Amino acid sequence: MKDLRLKAIYNQTQVFLDELMVPANDRAYLFGDAVYEVLRVYHTKPFLLAEHMARLARSLDAMEIKGVSDIRADILSSIALNEIEEGMVYVQISRGNAPRNHSFYNQALTPNILISAKPFLTHPTLKEAECGITVITHEDFRWGRCDIKTVNLLANCLAQSKAHSLGADDAIFIRDGHVTEGSSSNVFLVKDGTIKTPPLSRHILPGIRRQFLINAFCAEGNPVIEQPIHEEELFLADEVFITSTIKEAISVTMIDNKPVGSGERTIATLARKLIVDRAQL
Ligand code: PDD
Repeated sequence: MKDLRLKAIYNQTQVFLDELMVPANDRAYLFGDAVYEVLRVYHTKPFLLAEHMARLARSLDAMEIKGVSDIRADILSSIALNEIEEGMVYVQISRGNAPRNHSFYNQALTPNILISAKPFLTHPTLKEAECGITVITHEDFRWGRCDIKTVNLLANCLAQSKAHSLGADDAIFIRDGHVTEGSSSNVFLVKDGTIKTPPLSRHILPGIRRQFLINAFCAEGNPVIEQPIHEEELFLADEVFITSTIKEAISVTMIDNKPVGSGERTIATLARKLIVDRAQL
């Protein structure tokens, strides 16, 4: 039988993920001082690798984490090591190990780089794509640099857990009366044929699927309007959908227990098709 123990690459050394021990003084553990990426693997290949690497470089730069070499070969190795046909790769880069001290000023730390790949034994979102998801709206109580992909996701975890406790699937964050993003996704809405998504700012992650869809819809002759979205617009929309690497594009059927539009899903379905079709190339 095939060995299903996952193999990871930690600081360029191959390890079994379930045996990996990380130092207690890793700043990722002490302060959440780390950045990450999640990539989707289709047919053994990481999709939109260049885009993910560019965002990772931007996150590292914003966090002033230095000394990270090119990790693309390790990403490909982690896919091959685990014989992944369909799955995902998780990349986490922490600032490094140091005695607990808030400031990292003038400390020459060596980043810890974890790359772990996981196969999908069943399709991760087929059911959600068919049925859609329900969401709650939730105060966006995160910090002021949500555009950096750090592992500091406690507020996101609290919001998603709150949604689950209320019987919903996910949460959409609202800041000062405006939609920012989902707990682990970007948000789009459709009203009278116009597709809208909140503009890039320090309050949202520049999602790779978000940008992919902005480009793809533009090429289809239906440009996405990047404009602030008032909370109320969610309840007046014909369609609402969320996007992410893993979810691709998923239609939202209910928000705070109220149905979205008349249940139309044309654009959400097209969004998903645009992603999946490109991934098959
Ligand atoms: N999250 N916004 C947030 C807060 C996210 O965590 C994510 C993705 C996105 C969508 O970004 P992308 O299209 O690049 O996946 C937006 C990943 C999947 C995660 O944390 O698992």
